[in-house]
Amino acid sequence: MSSGPGELIGRGRSADVFLCAPDRVLRRYHDGHDAASEADAMRYLLDRGYPVPEVYDVSGPDIVMARLDGSTMLHTLGRQPWRIKELASLLAALQRRLNLIAPHASMPTRFGEREGVLHLDFHPDNVMLTSGGPMVIDFASVSAGPCGADVAQSWIIMATSTIPGSPIGRLTGAVGRRQLIRAYLRASDVDGARKWMARVSEARKLDVHTTDVERERIDRLAARETVVG
Ligand SMILES: Nc1ncnc2c1ncn2[C@@H]1O[C@H](COP(=O)(O)OP(=O)(O)O)[C@@H](O)[C@H]1O
Ligand SMILES: [Mg+2]
Repeated sequence: MSSGPGELIGRGRSADVFLCAPDRVLRRYHDGHDAASEADAMRYLLDRGYPVPEVYDVSGPDIVMARLDGSTMLHTLGRQPWRIKELASLLAALQRRLNLIAPHASMPTRFGEREGVLHLDFHPDNVMLTSGGPMVIDFASVSAGPCGADVAQSWIIMATSTIPGSPIGRLTGAVGRRQLIRAYLRASDVDGARKWMARVSEARKLDVHTTDVERERIDRLAARETVVG
């Protein structure tokens, strides 16, 4: 991709997203790693009717894909907190739909039996609410595995990730976060998730992006919510 990437419109823990044409964005990994398998997974899921943005091109750490309008579910939750239950149910339903898709042979195996497609970073900042309906983004960790592991991972992320911002913002965020998790778990297979809590939390602690404070929170959550046997 020879010309400059364009205006920065999104930034997460692993990638920058630039507007490169009125209807296209370029997503670039910070660490330069290859995005080909992620782009293949997105195409595979789109072919199966799953709501992901269309991929136009992939080159090294760059994916050019359809620009989505609207905003992330996380952003919407911050502005319209009365929609917590509705959006938590939508999050759970979108994840269930993904987990029910038969994995492609090229997807790496995580946590055991290749029961379904796992996103492994499924949370409200990776769902965009667009004029054409909800769309799921950020397939960096897409894998094949047991569905309960994906729900356990979402639970861990939502319960233990640090909320940036002011102390007041963190306090109100903490209240909304508890409601969000409760509503999400009510709409999900929570017993299936508990079976994977110990394994998934150990893996999460090894993630390079996980901070020491988050590791302590993960240990507390896993001690409370793990099913033994
Ligand atoms: N196709 C897209 N159209 C519009 N905005 C996008 C698109 N993909 C990502 N974004 C924006 O960029 C942000 C970061 O993208 P994401 O793929 O989640 O990267 P990261 O892995 O760093 O979290 C998203 O939260 C969203 O706001
Ligand atoms: Mg993201």
